[in-house]
Amino acid sequence: MSLTNRDYYRRLAQRTLEEMPPEDRFSEEDAALVLRHRELLLGLEERLVQLFYDSLYSHPATRAVFRERERPERERTLREWWRRTLSGPFDQDYWAWQAYVGLAHVRRGVTNPMMLGHAALVARAVGEAVREVEGGALTGAVSRLMATVSALIANGYHEVYLEAASQITGQSRSLLERSVEVALSALEAKAQ
Ligand code: HEM
Repeated sequence: MSLTNRDYYRRLAQRTLEEMPPEDRFSEEDAALVLRHRELLLGLEERLVQLFYDSLYSHPATRAVFRERERPERERTLREWWRRTLSGPFDQDYWAWQAYVGLAHVRRGVTNPMMLGHAALVARAVGEAVREVEGGALTGAVSRLMATVSALIANGYHEVYLEAASQITGQSRSLLERSVEVALSALEAKAQ
């Protein structure tokens, strides 16, 4: 993440987190819980990385995203992401980085269905592995972590497309949002 863009990602992250209901968002208690069980979660890294990329490489649409011999590099970045996540802190910079990570995928043609599906895969795989811990509380924390990461991915995608449309058309954001309403009304009218 470059320094010039840090403020952009921080603002995007802040807006996204504020929109999420507190029950859905990763909390300070969740952070404490995750950090308390850091060693256990770190121990899942190998299994998680293999599951993550075995799945992406066995499905044609996701496999097509990768360049030749890219897998070791991708596994490395996922391991680093997991280790940084489990190091804490879950501060403004961490969430800004998640917004950046989401957008880093857009350039490579990774779509929201791919990203959100795999964020859920991480939540499910890790959540199942730790479901006995503290009466299931750690599974809840991991689920809110990945829900928050997903919100940042989806919102970043939305914002960057709005920004591009605004640049191309020279229209303001509010006008573009109005155009979306018009398009939706037209769709509803067609469906009737
Ligand atoms: C929650 C899901 C995911 C997480 C947390 C994640 C994490 C990351 C991270 C940390 C990076 C390095 C970003 C950077 O420093 O520039 C990265 C890069 C990358 N990831 Fe993911 N990833 C996810 C899902 C996916 C999926 C579903 C695909 C493919 C279908 C994918 C393909 C890639 C590719 C191609 C790059 C290299 C981007 C570039 O060329 O700059 N990732 N990912």
